[in-house]
Order: sequence, then C-alpha cells, then structure tokens
Amino acid sequence: MNNQTVLVTGGAGYIGSHACVELLQAGFKVVVVDNLTNSKPESLSRVQQITGKSLTFYQADIRDKQALTEIFAKESPSTVIHFAGLKAVGESCEQPQLYYHNNVYGTLVLTEVMTNANVKQLVFSSSATVYSESASKQYTENFPLGACNPYGRSKAMIEDILRDLSAADQIKQTESPWKIALLRYFNPIGAHQSGLIGEDPNGIPNNLMPYVAQVAIGKLPQLSVFGDDYPTRDGTGVRDYIHVVDLVKGHIKAIAALAGEKFEAGGCRAYNLGAGRGYSVLEMINAFEQVTGKTINYKISPRRTGDIAECFANPGLALKELNWKVEKNLDDMVADTWNWQTKNPHGYA
Ligand code: NAD
Ligand code: UD1
Repeated sequence: MNNQTVLVTGGAGYIGSHACVELLQAGFKVVVVDNLTNSKPESLSRVQQITGKSLTFYQADIRDKQALTEIFAKESPSTVIHFAGLKAVGESCEQPQLYYHNNVYGTLVLTEVMTNANVKQLVFSSSATVYSESASKQYTENFPLGACNPYGRSKAMIEDILRDLSAADQIKQTESPWKIALLRYFNPIGAHQSGLIGEDPNGIPNNLMPYVAQVAIGKLPQLSVFGDDYPTRDGTGVRDYIHVVDLVKGHIKAIAALAGEKFEAGGCRAYNLGAGRGYSVLEMINAFEQVTGKTINYKISPRRTGDIAECFANPGLALKELNWKVEKNLDDMVADTWNWQTKNPHGYA
C-alpha cells in the first residue's frame, strides 16, 4: 500500500476513469475533480465496483480557484494527473474561446493552485495532435510542433506554459522544482476488460472506433470512410491505436519516473504514448468484423478536412525513460470495445 494521494482532474471521463482503476489497484489514494461537462458520475461508481476500493469525488470546475484551493488544502495530494479538458476538434473550430478558456486558462488556474500548495508533480494529457505534419510518418518527441486547430493549439499552448514553469524553477534553482511529464497520446481506443467502463461519447461520435461500434450494434446505419486515395497501403488513413488500459498504465509509470533519477533536479519532458505501428481504416473495419462476427456497413466518402494520411508513434523514449510499452494487441482493443458496447448500448445512461 502506498500512501500517496493522486488528484485526478477529469477523472470521470473516458481515460480518467480507466486511470482511476489503475491508480486504486496500485494502492494510491485517488481524489477526482470533474465538472461532469462530458461525463457521468456513474463512471466513478463503476471504478469503485471494479476495484472494490473507494475514491473521493468533487464536482468542481478546474477554473474555480477557490474550490480547487480548498480541495488541495483538504486532500494534500502529492501528484496531479491532469485529464480535464474539452477535446472535440470540430467544436473547437466553432468555439475557440471556449476551448482556450477551458483548457488553457483552466490549466493556468490549476498550476497556480498547485504552486501555492507546493504540489509540483504533474502528468499532463497532451496529444499527438501537437505535432506539425511531417514527411516521416513515425513521430519522435523532437519533431517540430504545429497544431492545426484550436483544440490542438490549446494542448500546444499548455505544453509551452508547463515548459516555461519548469524552466523558471531551473533559473531560480528552486528547492522543490516542477517535475512534469507531457504524455502525447496517439489514438486511445478500447475499454476496461470488465466491460463496466468505456467511452461514452455525447451524440454522434467523431472518432473512428466508437463510430464503428455504433454501426455494428445498429445505432448508426453506415460508416463513412473518409478518403481512400491517401498515399497509404490501401488508400485509407493510418493511425496508431492504443488500448486505453495500456495508455493509463503509462501514467502510473510516469508518476514513478517523476520520483526517480531522471527528474531528480526537476524538469518537463514529453513522451509519446503509442504502440509504434499503424493500422488503416479498412484494417480496423476488418479487425472489427473478424472479432465480432458482424458486417460493418460502410461507404467511401471524401477526405475529412484537417486529416493527414498516416501517423504513428516512435515510443522508444517512453520505453527507455518510463519503462513503458503497450502490452495489448488489436484484437484486445476491438474485443474490449465490443464488450463495453454490447453491455452498455446506451453508455452510462
Ligand atoms: P473526456 O471528455 O471523456 O474526459 C475529460 C473530462 O474532463 C470529462 O469528464 C469532463 O467532464 C472533464 N472536464 C472538462 N473540462 C473541465 C473543467 N473545466 N473542470 C473540470 N472538469 C472538466 O475525454 P478523454 O478522452 O478522457 O480525454 C482526457 C484528456 O486526454 C483530455 O485532456 C483530452 O484532450 C486528452 N486526449 C484525449 C484523446 C482521445 O482520443 N480521447 C487523445 C489525446 C488527448
Ligand atoms: C482525431 C482528432 C485529433 C485527436 C484524435 C484522438 C481530427 C481532425 N483529429 O484524430 O485531434 O487527437 O482524434 O482523439 O478530428 N475516420 C473515418 N470515418 C469516421 C471517423 C474517422 O474514416 O467516421 C478515419 C479518419 O479519417 C482517420 C481515422 O479514421 O484516418 C481515425 O480517425 P479519428 O478516430 O477521428 O482520429 P484522428 O483522425 O487520428
């Protein structure tokens, strides 16, 4: 049993709820702060059901400085995992102020409260979307950054803020400097193997896997495959899909690394969390059909604005410095997505 308390912002959401399971199972005390704008408290009941352990939940907005200050004073966390954020690319183009206010300003308030409470270990949910499109399809952490939509830019701005905070402590040679891991996720999919928690998108899903799952179960009539004329092996887009349970295990490894040698003098370091290989849209459909025995009704449609042909991670740095790599394969991702979808056809509702 380790007595550390981890404060998880956005812990009721898709990735956050899976992280809470791993944290509780690893013996951490867990405090969740979530305003429930994109989640339901039922996810946290299920987390407790899976683990047989309890967590503390505050329904609060990370932009509410007073509420956050009180929570930090009461709970004395040693580390924060910061998942809270809005994540819909299309919505961010329509409402950029909302995205900058929620994601960027929210993180500023969070880091101010953390500074005041002298809690300076942070694991941040960044995204592969911070990279600019590159000629090489396999992305390494030192590739140029250049997000192409407000959601992605909010993540890039937060990364800048966190790097600056850390650099300031290095200049001042602060006694307890910021220790920050920026985790750049590739494409998280799948669900906990219990089928009790999973992704519960609001309305019609934007992302491939939840869309395919809803076509398979008959909630949506047909999948549109966005483009079959990309320079990829079958013409459809290639992405690095990663099982959400593998992804959250990377966060536990990151917490351990923050306490270790690499971060002894503080610092802010970015890590790709991906499998290191890509699958095309047609390969994903095929895998889904094989595992579920269902036929996916699809049609080829025009390319989606803003999409790139191919992108997958070089996860070598996470292996070297966090001792992390994926353990699950495509069949696990598909089977667990399907298990969640069939057991919860209406999500948590
Ligand atoms: P999610 O929407 O399921 O979870 C985010 C949670 O944050 C929700 O429960 C929401 O209610 C909460 N939240 C949002 N704004 C808040 C605020 N101001 N105060 C308190 N709570 C707030 O999303 P997710 O898929 O679990 O993503 C978690 C994080 O990972 C996000 O920051 C997202 O940008 C990032 N990320 C996700 C993906 C992905 O494909 N899911 C990929 C890359 C990065
Ligand atoms: C999207 C977001 C990205 C975010 C990531 C993970 C956009 C432009 N980018 O990326 O910022 O970090 O999700 O949440 O939205 N596809 C179809 N039909 C569909 C849906 C998707 O063919 O109905 C294709 C896409 O063209 C792409 C692949 O499936 O080739 C994966 O799409 P998606 O799941 O949306 O992820 P990303 O495009 O990688």
